[in-house]
Amino acid sequence: MSAEVLISYNYEAPGRHRIYSGGHGVYLFSRDGRKIFDGLSGSMNANLGHGNKAVAAAMASQAVGITSVPSVAGDVSEDCVFLAEKLCRYLGVVDNSCSFASSGSEATETALAIVWKYWSEMGRPGKSKILSLDGSYHGCTLGALAITGRSEEHVDVPILPGLRLALPSWDPSDDSRVSAALGELLASTGSESVAAIFLEPVMGLAGMVPAALNDIRKVVSICHSNDILVVLDEALTGLGRAGYQTAAEMYGIDHDLLLVSKGLGCGFVPIAATCIAPQVSSIVEGALPSLRHGHTSSGNPVAARIASAVIDELEAHNATHNARRMESIFKEQMASRVVELHEKCAVRATGLCLAVETDDSVYAQRVRQNAFDLGLRIRAIDGNIIACPPLVVTEHELAEMADLLSRALLMTERTRPAEV
Ligand SMILES: Cc1ncc(COP(=O)(O)O)c(C=O)c1O
Repeated sequence: MSAEVLISYNYEAPGRHRIYSGGHGVYLFSRDGRKIFDGLSGSMNANLGHGNKAVAAAMASQAVGITSVPSVAGDVSEDCVFLAEKLCRYLGVVDNSCSFASSGSEATETALAIVWKYWSEMGRPGKSKILSLDGSYHGCTLGALAITGRSEEHVDVPILPGLRLALPSWDPSDDSRVSAALGELLASTGSESVAAIFLEPVMGLAGMVPAALNDIRKVVSICHSNDILVVLDEALTGLGRAGYQTAAEMYGIDHDLLLVSKGLGCGFVPIAATCIAPQVSSIVEGALPSLRHGHTSSGNPVAARIASAVIDELEAHNATHNARRMESIFKEQMASRVVELHEKCAVRATGLCLAVETDDSVYAQRVRQNAFDLGLRIRAIDGNIIACPPLVVTEHELAEMADLLSRALLMTERTRPAEV
């Protein structure tokens, strides 16, 4: 068996793959027989770890039931309705409606479609531009890519023109960085062409950068008073990863639309949801002609049954609370281990959104490689090393991860070429 038949996104070492053949809990087992601590939870989504008997049973039960009924054109499965209610309750947004898709990118596309439909129904179709932050990631389908603020993702792909209005990224230590820029932008262009803002409350690929509390609150307030819809992209942070059911809850902010994906299927199934607050759903849902938006697998009943079991398991394991508890434990573990790197690295943690910020992308890639050689799977993006272990990680396992990560950092630092 060769992985050469695959074309996969691999910016680290094109054409080379690390092949895994098994998994259990926080561990992956590589084809060459190594046990690897999965510090990334698969794709930052296996929040229950690898393998789960209750989820497997739910999966099997629907695989012999309804195989496929999409929630489009008036059809919907009972499981899908049940999941929508359960998800909204779990997220603490009981008055919302849900639209299901299969990935975070699709949920972003759904949100864009709803935003435009809303303004069209309100008789203001000129409101079409989307605000987003530099460094943000909203997905790789064309609409999502066009509002993504990471220029690295735009290479070689034609970007839909005239859609995005750029704002700077969060600075956790600056209470007005984004809100001040937003105020200036609106003062010069007005808000008549602006439909919505897409925000990651904690910017994942930018290095797990959280918004400053007052900054995000001011941004939301400015948007509300300027008729700009607030779309919270919680593909990463939704369902517990930031230590709260949503990062919106952590910040005490309201949304018009809220996206969740990774933690909803926990990697067992591709599923995502766009949650729609009543002030938007009341306008869009009854509209005629209705919004023509949906996919073959929107609200797939097997996926819905699995996601429902995932929520039960997250609740049973107290996963959100565990993520919040692990935040300070991770910081303590790293602080005690990387004393000699204090000036070169900053450790960031919001729940189990973890990162080590370094000053050097080459160094960060070497840390990733060294960590893997030691048995830890993490990612390096620009100068940031990022980790998202499963939300059910134990204190003992987190200490093991911190140990491997700090050893990789120290090993890399000690072999860093001297600066000239
Ligand atoms: C905040 C955010 N939004 C959207 C996406 C896109 O999700 P997907 O990869 O499932 O399309 C991601 C993926 O990492 C993400 O982190």
